[in-house]
Amino acid sequence: MTNRDVEAAWSYHDGTKHSWQSIHSDSHFLDFPNQPLPFKVYEELEPLPLPRDFSNTGVEALSAIAGRVGGAGDGELDLRGLASVLYYSAGITKKGAYPGGEILFRAAACTGALYHVEVYLVCGPLAGLEPGVYHFGAHDFALRRLRRGDYRAALVEACGYEPSVASAPASLVLTSTFWRNSWKYRARAYRHCFWDSGTMLANTLAVSTARGIEARVVAGFADGAVNHLLGLDTEREVSLAVVPLGKGSPGCPAPPPMPDLDLKTAPLSPTEVEYPAIGAIHSASSLATGREARAWRASAPGPSTKAASGPLKALQSLADGAGDTIEGTIARRGSSRQFRREAVTLPQLSTILHRSTQGIPADFLEPPGAMLNRIYLIVHAVDGLASGAYVYRREEGALELLDEGEMRRVAGFLGLQQALPADASVDVFMLADLPEVLDRYGNRGYRAAQLEGGIVGGKMYLAAYAQRLGATGLTFFDDDVTEFFSPDALGLSTMFLVALGKPARRRSRR
Ligand SMILES: Cc1cc2nc3c(=O)[nH]c(=O)nc-3n(C[C@H](O)[C@H](O)[C@H](O)COP(=O)(O)O)c2cc1C
Repeated sequence: MTNRDVEAAWSYHDGTKHSWQSIHSDSHFLDFPNQPLPFKVYEELEPLPLPRDFSNTGVEALSAIAGRVGGAGDGELDLRGLASVLYYSAGITKKGAYPGGEILFRAAACTGALYHVEVYLVCGPLAGLEPGVYHFGAHDFALRRLRRGDYRAALVEACGYEPSVASAPASLVLTSTFWRNSWKYRARAYRHCFWDSGTMLANTLAVSTARGIEARVVAGFADGAVNHLLGLDTEREVSLAVVPLGKGSPGCPAPPPMPDLDLKTAPLSPTEVEYPAIGAIHSASSLATGREARAWRASAPGPSTKAASGPLKALQSLADGAGDTIEGTIARRGSSRQFRREAVTLPQLSTILHRSTQGIPADFLEPPGAMLNRIYLIVHAVDGLASGAYVYRREEGALELLDEGEMRRVAGFLGLQQALPADASVDVFMLADLPEVLDRYGNRGYRAAQLEGGIVGGKMYLAAYAQRLGATGLTFFDDDVTEFFSPDALGLSTMFLVALGKPARRRSRR
């Protein structure tokens, strides 16, 4: 099966949809004694502790989320800057208690707090760090060296000579260990790979922007070569995205030899279950060579947009400077566990929509500013905006009313019959035109559409918290969402849902 046989993406997507029937006929239960460890722990490698005394930029979150900060791109990537990017992307920011013990919450939201996404670093010589391939250990905030030497050239080749990777002093590589999420979510965990790396990348991009470090999301790479570089056991863990950090590297030498790695890691749980649907979609969306990755990236034209036909409500945006700093925002972020049924203001909603959709620097989003997903909303309580179903017309900076009315009950249903989407002020859904995306990008486009949903959703989390509002990602009944927003959304597939509102109370966390 190749990337162009898009039956694989359809088969995975259709086979992992939630519906009322699928949820209510499901006998899956959580086997807590077999719950996987939420960390990858290399048992025999020395930790290289990362500095914790990185200074905060104090940059206003809403500008950083939008990717707009004066002088961006001039920041030097040193060990402190890198430590800060890692901390605010994947670090432990809070601790909480639950009946089974302690839970270590991370900087970015993650389905089920299962934290299956790992971060690696491939770097040349940096101030304070020798060239090498490293793993970031969130549990002890330390790097562990997997390979010694400058291996960037191998990554550059695997990414088909993508210029941002070629000129970067360092790149992050995000991976997922499937079992750590499929333990709870089974085959749907493959979607979560991109949702959860996406929320993390929203933080990475915002913090890098704030530090003046150029960052880009590269989804086109030769999977086998990158996985080999990191020494992954690809039956269990695979690379999801490469993120070059910084620019201006004068080039990198030919990489040293790259033997197989056989590094001992702590067992995750007594037994692991494999979900063949995950392996099937992953291999069908894999690219074999850097050359293929390069051709994949060039699969223009950009996605089509649809002209508005209904009444438009112009959005109003808050000025930058109205919110918290990016570091303060990420440190405070958490998923709201309950919403008060109270209104947010139209400028608050406008700001969230506007700042989170200013364009993601990504190899699959050309021309810059393009999006694969369309944004639909159910508005329950926004001052100055009638309750109802809307579509966000980004180009017009306006919301188009699709259907007016009180919709809390149906929103609760669409969000898997949970209270959160019913009690929120607004529910934001991202839907992609999968036939178009797959036609353009093959099965790999499926990864890209899910990833974009995660990144935009992650930005919405941050834009909400920057304004002292709450947010939570949610799962959904796939086809019911499409039907609800049709005829406008006819033929679209639901990728992501985030609920926004005023949180009812704080979870006690340290
Ligand atoms: C994509 C996504 C989907 C989520 N779905 C749900 C959901 O359906 N119900 C829910 O209560 N929480 C959901 N969450 C919230 C997670 O449970 C939460 O992020 C996790 O427990 C970590 O907590 P934190 O976000 O407060 O750090 C979701 C989060 C994400 C990122």
